Amino acid sequence: MGNHVFRPLFVVIGIIILILIARSFYVPHDFGVHERGYMYGWYREGNIEDWKKVQVKYQGRDYCKDCHSDKYESIMRSPHAIIQCENCHGPAVDHPANPPKLTIDRSRQLCLRCHYPLPYPTSGRAKIRGIDPDRHNRDFECSTCHNPHKPNLSIR
Ligand code: HEC
Ligand code: HEC
Ligand code: HEC
Ligand code: HEC
Repeated sequence: MGNHVFRPLFVVIGIIILILIARSFYVPHDFGVHERGYMYGWYREGNIEDWKKVQVKYQGRDYCKDCHSDKYESIMRSPHAIIQCENCHGPAVDHPANPPKLTIDRSRQLCLRCHYPLPYPTSGRAKIRGIDPDRHNRDFECSTCHNPHKPNLSIR
């Protein structure tokens, strides 16, 4: 075999060596398969600790049940039973330690997020009763008339 075969071969071997050197700098040292076999494939072991440090923001409504039992009970018997409290009040994180109070948003926008009529028939969103915000009592907050924890079609 002549030089015309070996030369490109050396070039290829050179490129592979360069890639291996670059890899040793860029790939974190704890990246690998680790003790559980191939269960999780390749991963960085330190990533487990990173995720343990992530703070849970949303607690779910069972968390609110004991302290705000009146709200919990009325909402569970209403058409809003499928909505989580934190959908309207924001993430509880460590409330009441931190933050001591959750947001109370009385804007029409909060409700229109779900009650603006959307016609798309294949989406479950279309089944939520919609109102025309320009005509439906436009100068008032929705909670003037509707109780968000016990919405009904007349007054609170
Ligand atoms: C350990 C008891 C406790 C738990 C659990 C708890 N809260 Fe509270 N919450 C409080 C206290 C105490 C306050 C302050 C009340 C005050 O100052 O009027 C408060 C205030 C609030 C406020 C503001 C009330 C206002 O008048 O400004 C909202 C909204 C609220 N909580 C929602 C929630 C939701 C939603 C959850 C569940 C994700 C929850 N809370 C879980 C005790 C609790
Ligand atoms: C659809 C949105 C929505 C959901 C879901 C919701 N809230 Fe509220 N919440 C509001 C609004 C709006 C107000 C302000 C009501 C007002 O001004 O009369 C409020 C007020 C409150 C207040 C303080 C005012 C008061 O009357 O004491 C507390 C506490 C509260 N909510 C707790 C909860 C808890 C607990 C849940 C779940 C069990 C929940 N909320 C679910 C929208 C919501
Ligand atoms: C996350 C979505 C969501 C938000 C936000 C929301 N709703 Fe609803 N609402 C629903 C669903 C789902 C129903 C039950 C299906 C229906 O009746 O259309 C409902 C039902 C209602 C009904 C009809 C009750 C009945 O007797 O049939 C009223 C009135 C209502 N909501 C008012 C409000 C008001 C006021 C707010 C704001 C404080 C609000 N909603 C925020 C999803 C939402
Ligand atoms: C001045 C009082 C008042 C205000 C403010 C008000 N509503 Fe209503 N709403 C009513 C009454 C009364 C009804 C039942 C009769 C009707 O359909 O008009 C109703 C009906 C509804 C219905 C059911 C519609 C249907 O087709 O069955 C929804 C959903 C609703 N309102 C959501 C809202 C939302 C969201 C807001 C704020 C953007 C709001 N309302 C503001 C009084 C009010």
